[in-house]
Amino acid sequence: MEINFKDRDIISITDFCRDEIFYLCKKAKKMHDLEKNNERDGLLNELKNKALAYMFYEPSTRTKTSFITAMRQLGGSWDGFSGIEGTSVMKKETIRDTVMMMEANHFDVIVMRHPLGGSLQWAADVASIPVINGGDGENEHPTQSLLDIFTLYLLSDENLDGISIGFGGDLSHGRTIRSLSLALSCFKDITIRWAAEDFLGMPEDLVELLKSRGVSVIREKSVEDVMSRVQFYYMTRPQLERMGGITQKDVMEMMKKYRIDLKKVKESNVKLMHPLPVNSEIAEIDYEVYFDKSQAFFQQAENGVFLRKALLYEMLKGVESVQFSGELNPLLEYGNNRLKRIIKENAKEGRKFIDNITNGTVVDHLLPGTEQKIVAELDLMNRGSSSIPAHLPKSGKSFLKTDLPELNERELKKITLISPEDTINYIKDGKVADKFVYLLCKNTNCVTRVVNEDIPPKFYEDSGTIRCRYCRKSYSITSKKVSQKEKEEFINSLPEGIEQIKFHA
Ligand code: CP
Repeated sequence: MEINFKDRDIISITDFCRDEIFYLCKKAKKMHDLEKNNERDGLLNELKNKALAYMFYEPSTRTKTSFITAMRQLGGSWDGFSGIEGTSVMKKETIRDTVMMMEANHFDVIVMRHPLGGSLQWAADVASIPVINGGDGENEHPTQSLLDIFTLYLLSDENLDGISIGFGGDLSHGRTIRSLSLALSCFKDITIRWAAEDFLGMPEDLVELLKSRGVSVIREKSVEDVMSRVQFYYMTRPQLERMGGITQKDVMEMMKKYRIDLKKVKESNVKLMHPLPVNSEIAEIDYEVYFDKSQAFFQQAENGVFLRKALLYEMLKGVESVQFSGELNPLLEYGNNRLKRIIKENAKEGRKFIDNITNGTVVDHLLPGTEQKIVAELDLMNRGSSSIPAHLPKSGKSFLKTDLPELNERELKKITLISPEDTINYIKDGKVADKFVYLLCKNTNCVTRVVNEDIPPKFYEDSGTIRCRYCRKSYSITSKKVSQKEKEEFINSLPEGIEQIKFHA
């Protein structure tokens, strides 16, 4: 198998196979050995004239700094932003436009972190230079999991099969557990044991996915039970920023039994890992543990430098710079999310729609009570359009008629956010000319749901499941109005898996 990281985006750990992970571990080990033999400076010309852009919409110490260190030690340069203060994101600039500005400034690679899931796939679609996911919402952090795997590789005599690892802390809201466990699923005889309160526990969909990939996932009663049965213990920080109304006090209560203290590690034989940072107030790892021989997390952080150095080298060494064209790829303009509904000629329903509207739009099967909200959101009454929102209490039907000939993407998205899976009918010359359901990812953390980011929703087919191209969450059609035939036709129209949007033929 030919392994090549050039002209490739790094978005999800699931895009890597076993051989590629081993390959990167071997390359990272070379970087490790050069450092330990005081030969680091031999690399100073490797990425001369290459530049890395960092775009951190969320705080970071390790990820940002280690990418910069990697670039510096390979002879390249870097620039970007950490936090949106002081950038034009404060002036409502979109992800698309900000990514284009990094290209206009002749960077060769982008590392980005963003609070919304799927934002990195979108950035990668926009950019004609490679994009690396430095963490997108609750979704993924692929280079963290690569450095975690590299740490396990170093601590297991360069072997990754047969590993037993315990997970603790917040296994539900963080992205590192998802990415690491999926990375581990590339290897043989992997056992994951975990213990946590239900609220912070392993998501069921993830457990099912891991089991389907041959990983043994076992929930234990206590941290002590986990620690006594594993080689490694991977602790994580409760992700308060992703928990909605939950307070730190609530979390401290939930974490009482699950914090790692000196007694727990002394009674076990684990190597203690953590992606860091540790929340010093919750202290999911007690300060005394820092001085114990089990502590491996600072070394783990340094391994991030070696891994990211190896990755940047593999991605950029010998690659020609991309000429900025200033043009967007036309594929970015359209989604593939319009589920075509069958138009029944002269159907009773059709006639009802079009009785006092010969040209315009009917939005049908609205959630009851949403008609006026939609009229207000689209400002229909002040746009010179004739509009009739109606809720028929007897039949329960809610719909909206307007003489606007068609709705644009922003309008469709706004309607769908208020009333998902309604039916849009475009009426021309008294007949229904087009009838469809505009599907929008239901993951509330997905970037496609932000109207003014202008990301046309795209889906793909994954063994009969519809998935959002951006956050990769599964989508299930719940509208009772959509027939099995319409659903099947929609699924058949989707690409299988994520196709890279190519800029160069
Ligand atoms: N582990 C990690 O991603 O750390 P930072 O948030 O500091 O980048």
